[in-house]
Amino acid sequence: MNKEVRIPTGISGLDRVIEGGVRDNTTLLVVGSSGTGKSTFAMQYLTYGLEHGENALYISMEEPPEQIMREARMLGFNLDKYYEKELFFFHSKGKDFVKLVDEQLPALVEANKNYSVKTRVVIDPLTPLIWSVNDKQEQREIITKLFYTMKQLGPVLITTEEHAAPGETIGEDVLIPIYMSDGAVHLTYRPIGGAFNRALEIVKMRATRHGEEVYPYIFVRGIGVVVRTTPLISAEDMRKYDDLFDQAIRTAADLGANETVLERLAYVKENWSYPFSPKETLQIFFESQGFTDALTREEIARRKEESMPSDVQLDIGELSANGSAEITEDIPEEKNADAEEEGLIEIDDLRELEEMIQ
Ligand SMILES: Nc1ncnc2c1ncn2[C@@H]1O[C@H](COP(=O)(O)OP(=O)(O)OP(=O)(O)O)[C@@H](O)[C@H]1O
Ligand SMILES: [Mg+2]
Repeated sequence: MNKEVRIPTGISGLDRVIEGGVRDNTTLLVVGSSGTGKSTFAMQYLTYGLEHGENALYISMEEPPEQIMREARMLGFNLDKYYEKELFFFHSKGKDFVKLVDEQLPALVEANKNYSVKTRVVIDPLTPLIWSVNDKQEQREIITKLFYTMKQLGPVLITTEEHAAPGETIGEDVLIPIYMSDGAVHLTYRPIGGAFNRALEIVKMRATRHGEEVYPYIFVRGIGVVVRTTPLISAEDMRKYDDLFDQAIRTAADLGANETVLERLAYVKENWSYPFSPKETLQIFFESQGFTDALTREEIARRKEESMPSDVQLDIGELSANGSAEITEDIPEEKNADAEEEGLIEIDDLRELEEMIQ
């Protein structure tokens, strides 16, 4: 279970599907083509922090602060009262991004070191820096360094413009920043008319149970964007398959699974977040661990005799994707009877079990 403190992004709807927000000292990349709303996301993110007693640092590579403030106002964010009190700008006037990343920003972070107020950082957009470096290796190094430096201040939101070629799902030019970020959301715009032709997808979110759908978002004057998400399944619903997991864990133990595998299964149980049964997943996992074809029931029974008797036994045939018929045929009737005498319940169909649970 992840009990780490989450920092709300303030981007309406997004926090719902990322366990409440981002983790401190991480980077969140917002990727999208021109006009998808990246700056709106960034402003909303900053505003939330400012309105909740945090400081904010806005790093711009091209636009001067006055222009950013003006555009923010047009997007419905009036940041005047925070300007140079809680909200600071770092405008890289020159095009010397290497110097910016190697010297200026580390110096800024160093100067802020003993400052206790949390600072959320926005880099909007990262694009000029990416374009200034052609060599991929160099690009990687400069982005790594930039992210590493800025993360020390607080949670960082970076936007970057994408230029996807036709047929590409994600533009090639943004793969490195996505790879280097702790989290990434992808904004797409489909010019097909109608109100809901903009959509957000979570590409990745490290150490986070996150939504996997395509979420439409709308612009709302006075708020910014509202991402139309449905909350992830409730904590209560997450527990729905506990019994099934417990059976599977016992079965795995009976089949000689080592401690690591059992711990892993327990972890999966704690984190199962889908509204559907984990049965198929467990079948596939068991098979990948060699818990199926290699083992006949006799072998299972033999192993069981050697180890502690367990009270419930899952039918491995049911957990096996193939070859289940063979396994079943191998079993003499008495064996089954024996098993029952030992107090082992044979459950032939996990579906029954699921029904029982529901
Ligand atoms: N209140 C609104 N109602 C409708 N559309 C809006 C609203 N606010 C913003 N938009 C749309 O979003 C677009 C730009 O938003 P934003 O500046 O956040 O995008 P961006 O991805 O940062 O763009 P760029 O690549 O130019 O930096 C506007 O051009 C407009 O089409
Ligand atoms: Mg923008």
